Amino acid sequence: MSKEKILVTGATGQIGSELTLKLRKKYGNDNVVAAGHKRKPSEKLLESGPFVYLDVTDKEAIEKVVKEYEIDTIYHLAAVLSAIGEEKPQLAWHVNINGLYNVLEVTREHGVQRVFWPSSIAVFGPEAPRVNTPQNTVLIPRTVYGVTKVAGELLCNYYFTKFGVDVRSVRYPGIISSETLPGGGTTDYAVEIFYEAIKHRRYVCFVREDTVLPMMYMPDCLKAALDLMEADADKITCRTSYNVSAMSFSAGELVAEIKKYIPGFTCEFKPDFRQKIADSWPMSIDDSAARRDWGWKPAYDLAAMTRDMIEKLTRKLAEGNA
Ligand code: SER
Repeated sequence: MSKEKILVTGATGQIGSELTLKLRKKYGNDNVVAAGHKRKPSEKLLESGPFVYLDVTDKEAIEKVVKEYEIDTIYHLAAVLSAIGEEKPQLAWHVNINGLYNVLEVTREHGVQRVFWPSSIAVFGPEAPRVNTPQNTVLIPRTVYGVTKVAGELLCNYYFTKFGVDVRSVRYPGIISSETLPGGGTTDYAVEIFYEAIKHRRYVCFVREDTVLPMMYMPDCLKAALDLMEADADKITCRTSYNVSAMSFSAGELVAEIKKYIPGFTCEFKPDFRQKIADSWPMSIDDSAARRDWGWKPAYDLAAMTRDMIEKLTRKLAEGNA
């Protein structure tokens, strides 16, 4: 087990902002360096521990932080997501591929002991079975984001077998959370809908009502990362990326669940370019390998997640912290 001097890239993002705080609680504030680039860090992030500006496409900049803070564990979350990726494919390739390559190289050269890097359900394309998508199946994604995730998975596996780099990964589904908004993904509607339902009692959804995608609530998302990072290395049989699943629902089912708390809520469905991306992704995921190898088990389903989201966001919005 490493000594836990941790660097989190993408720390100002949807997952990073919460993961950083959780890691700080667990390993001590000063032992977790948050690194952001484009988004402004929250007060919480700035006040609770070290923060650096870091462009992950700049290898020397990563090296400098790793040396200065004697980093032994990296959570590399910085990435361009699926919808923005389709608008800026060159940028998505540059950040996602070169960012990961730089992190893996710095890890190899400087003896960083462990790396977490998230992959995504976006690795799958229409040729893969869409229901209960298996761990090992054909990977022909149609988004550049998915292409970078497939290439990234293969690169991680290569660095493990060739250089012994202990890099671990899960394929996250859409992540739902109340702290920080997601930035430019296809599954963002499942978060936006809560804000709009509470604030305006109406939402215009950018995918069809019958669109089913796999989703996960933030506490489970964080648990997946921490559980996998704490697992004994000999338990990990998959060095590309593990399927992990928690819940699957259609946009219409999500609306119906929210209506239980906000009866006057109405939702219109106006699919845009993101519909095509959603249609190329799985509807549900077989995560039996993760359950078997490192005991993966999610806690939140649609009902429990919705209840908690409404409660947390209602409080947050009432306090004026949109
Ligand atoms: N939530 C991500 C996206 O929609 C999937 O990895 O891009």
